[in-house]
Amino acid sequence: MNIGLDIGTSSVKAILLDENQALIASATADLTVERPHPGWSEQDPDSWWTACETVLDSLKDQVPKELAAVKGIGLSGHMHGATLLDAADKPLRPCILWNDGRSAKQCADLEKAEPKFLSLGGNRVMPGFTAPKLQWVRENEPEIFARTEMVLLPKDYVRFRLTGIYAGDMSDSAGTLWLDVAKRDWSDDLLAATGLSRGNMPRLVEGSEVSGQVKSDLCARWGFDTAPVVAGGGGDNAASACGVGAVEPGSGFVSLGTSGVLFVTNDRFSPNVDNAVHAFCHAVPNTWHQMGVILSATDSLNWLAGRLKAAPGDLTAALGAVSGPSNVSFLPYLGGERTPHNDVAIRAGFAGISHETDDAELTHAVLDGVAFALKDCLSALSAAGTKVDRLLAVGGGSRSQTWLEIIASLLEVTIEVPIDGDFGASLGAARLGQAAALGSADGIFSKPALKTTIDPNPTLIPAYADAYQRWRKLYPALKQAGF
Ligand code: XUL
Repeated sequence: MNIGLDIGTSSVKAILLDENQALIASATADLTVERPHPGWSEQDPDSWWTACETVLDSLKDQVPKELAAVKGIGLSGHMHGATLLDAADKPLRPCILWNDGRSAKQCADLEKAEPKFLSLGGNRVMPGFTAPKLQWVRENEPEIFARTEMVLLPKDYVRFRLTGIYAGDMSDSAGTLWLDVAKRDWSDDLLAATGLSRGNMPRLVEGSEVSGQVKSDLCARWGFDTAPVVAGGGGDNAASACGVGAVEPGSGFVSLGTSGVLFVTNDRFSPNVDNAVHAFCHAVPNTWHQMGVILSATDSLNWLAGRLKAAPGDLTAALGAVSGPSNVSFLPYLGGERTPHNDVAIRAGFAGISHETDDAELTHAVLDGVAFALKDCLSALSAAGTKVDRLLAVGGGSRSQTWLEIIASLLEVTIEVPIDGDFGASLGAARLGQAAALGSADGIFSKPALKTTIDPNPTLIPAYADAYQRWRKLYPALKQAGF
C-alpha cells in the first residue's frame, strides 16, 4: 500500500493505492486562500498540516487494516510558495503563494542584478516564483527576513511535519529559481542574490528517492505497522506528469485546473526565457520539462459562473458542441499572466459583446479565450524546439468535451482523455512513494487507459486559426490602454 498526498491550492487530497495502483480509499479536506491586499495570495502553513491530519484520520476510519500496511508516501503540492521558518521551526508569516503578484519590482531588480537567474535558473524571474518573494520580504518585512532560518515549499513543510526532516525534490525546488537546473543543485550565486545561502535550504533528493520516514508518534496515530518512507515527491505539475505516465521525452499533458498548464517532458534542460517558458527538473532522475502556465483556466469559467449565478458545469452543458469560434473574445488575465507575457499587472477583457450576447456566448468566449492562451503556450514551447502531437488532458475542466474539442482544433494536437478516475498530482505522488518504497521505478509510471481521443476537427481548424490571429491583437491593445 502507498499513499499520495497532494497539497492543492483549494484542498488537500490523500489517496491510498494497493501494489497494483488500484484505488483503495481517498479523502479530501478544504483549504482557504487569503487575499489581504489586491494581488496578494496567502495561506496558513499550519492549515496544510491540519488538513493532512484530517485526510489521514479519514483513511484510518475508512480502511484501518489497509492503512497499517502502507510502505511509501509521496508528496505533491502547489509550487513556488514561500514558507519561512524561524530557529524553532515555526512559520514566521503566512505562505506567499504561486499566484501572488506583489513582487514585480523585485523581479525586475533581480534580473538586472544577477543574469544567472536566466542562464542557470533558466526562467524569467516572475512574481509567482519563490526567490522574488524572499526579496520582497527582505525589503518590506526586514525583521521577519532576519529571523528566517529555513525556506520551504508547501509540500516540503508537510514533509517536515511528517518526518522532522528538511528536504526538497528537484522539480519543486527548480521553481524557487535558486536551483542550477541543469546541475540539479542549489546555486550559491542565485541564493546570495536574495541574501540567502545553502544553510537556509533543505537537502535535495530526486522525486522517486527516499527523503525520510514518518515519525514514530504519527506511525502510532495512524497505525502504520512499520514507518513508511516518504519520497521526494514533486511539484504538482511534475507529479501530475508521473500520474499520467508523461516521463518519456516528448510526452506531455494539458491541465485545465485553477491554472492552465501545457507540460512537455525533455531529456535535457531546455530553457526559453524570452517567451516566459518554465524550464524545470522533472520528478524523475535525469529528466527535465518545459511548461507554459496560464494563471486562470477553470478560474476564468468559475469567475463567469459566479457572475451569472450558475454552476460552471451547467454553463458548459448549456453551450453544447460548437461549430466555430465565438464572436466574442475573452482574455483570461484575471490575475495577470505568466506564459508568454510575464505580465502580473495585465487584467482580463471581453471584446465584441452585442445586444444579442447571451450567457452561452459568454461561456463560449471564455472557453475559447483559455484555449487561445494555451495556444500561446504551445507557440512558446515550439519556439524552444519542442514538438508535440498528442497531449493527455487532466484537471476539472477536462470534463468538458467541448472545451477539449476547441483545444484540439486550435492547437492541432490529438487530445487523449483517460477513463474516469483521478490522474492528477495525488496519483503521481503515490507512484513516487511506491518507487521510493520499492527502490525502483520499473513499470511504475504507466499511461492510463483512455476513454477517448479527440482529433483536431478539420472544419474547425481554419476558423480557429483566424480567430487566434484576431485574438492575439487584443493583448497589446489592452496593455496600451493601461488595463
Ligand atoms: C506552476 C504553477 C501552478 C501551481 C499551482 O508554475 O504556478 O501550476 O503549481 O498549481
